[in-house]
Amino acid sequence: MTGKYPNTRLRRTRANNWSRALHRENHLAPTDLIWPLFVTEGSGVEDPVATLPGVSRWSVDGIVARAKEAVDLGIPVIALFPNTPAEKRSDNGEEAHNPDNLMCRAIKAIKDACGDDIGVLTDVALDPYTSHGQDGLLNDAGYVLNDDTVASLVDQAINQAEAGADIIAPSDMMDGRIHAIRMALEMGNHHNVQIMSYAAKYASAFYGPFRDAVGSGGLLKGDKKTYQMDPANGDEALREVELDIAEGADSVMVKPGLAYLDIIYRVKQQFGVPVFAYQVSGEYAMIEAAQAAGIGDRDALLMEKLIAFKRAGCSGVLTYHAPVAARILNG
Ligand code: PBG
Repeated sequence: MTGKYPNTRLRRTRANNWSRALHRENHLAPTDLIWPLFVTEGSGVEDPVATLPGVSRWSVDGIVARAKEAVDLGIPVIALFPNTPAEKRSDNGEEAHNPDNLMCRAIKAIKDACGDDIGVLTDVALDPYTSHGQDGLLNDAGYVLNDDTVASLVDQAINQAEAGADIIAPSDMMDGRIHAIRMALEMGNHHNVQIMSYAAKYASAFYGPFRDAVGSGGLLKGDKKTYQMDPANGDEALREVELDIAEGADSVMVKPGLAYLDIIYRVKQQFGVPVFAYQVSGEYAMIEAAQAAGIGDRDALLMEKLIAFKRAGCSGVLTYHAPVAARILNG
């Protein structure tokens, strides 16, 4: 203190709009966003997801229209999730290997229409294809078998890469799958196909609406706690990330987002790799519910959460609000 005045007034730089802009430490742009989209069979179909107000499943033609919309909004990547028809789901999820499955048709149609103007990220896991809703192959006791599942995921990943996927995103949490997929991509001459691993993916209650959207929720027996992480654990997330980087991941993901900001921060501090947050379906639904209930302003809540991911160290965020956020950012 100099006399009765404080030496430092942190409020000084907050006093005006221009000064707040000048001192802003983190920035959000449409290029920070990845837009997850749900694909369904048919043509001209828009099928709203009841638990995700404002989100629909689109047939392939609609997905192409969304991809063009993303390009126009400046969103660099879209992520695809199929709602596989019930008759094509099976115990072992063989439809994941079909080169003409819904996912592959969507990838090809987007790449035909948009080329390199957009990156296509594809989820690798068996849950949209299995009749039991688990992400892998089960033994008689209902336990998800690790190594047999990895072999199946490798085929699924190659199938997606052959269709034109740019980023393979394994969300299954099997051990050793990043190495296996990377080797198969190399041997298959897909050297520049990236891997974004769901490295720290938690067994979360925030995935409910997603499971409705891909139609696996009603099928799922039990939970996914034998492969997805325990929400109580932080150090273990760093081990997961370390392994996935060593196995060849180009970037890593933490999922869900908001409840796991500490994990994002620790991963970025410790490894300095590109980290992405998945603001998952339950998080989207909570923001929409707050708006609908008159508890908060959707746009303000959304933008505050998105900048929090940047502040924690994220390179970008997967969010169903991507087009909403991009429109706000584009003014
Ligand atoms: C599938 C997968 C899930 C999500 C992304 N990929 C669900 C799950 O693990 O059960 C959740 C995404 C969301 O809730 O938005 N392996």
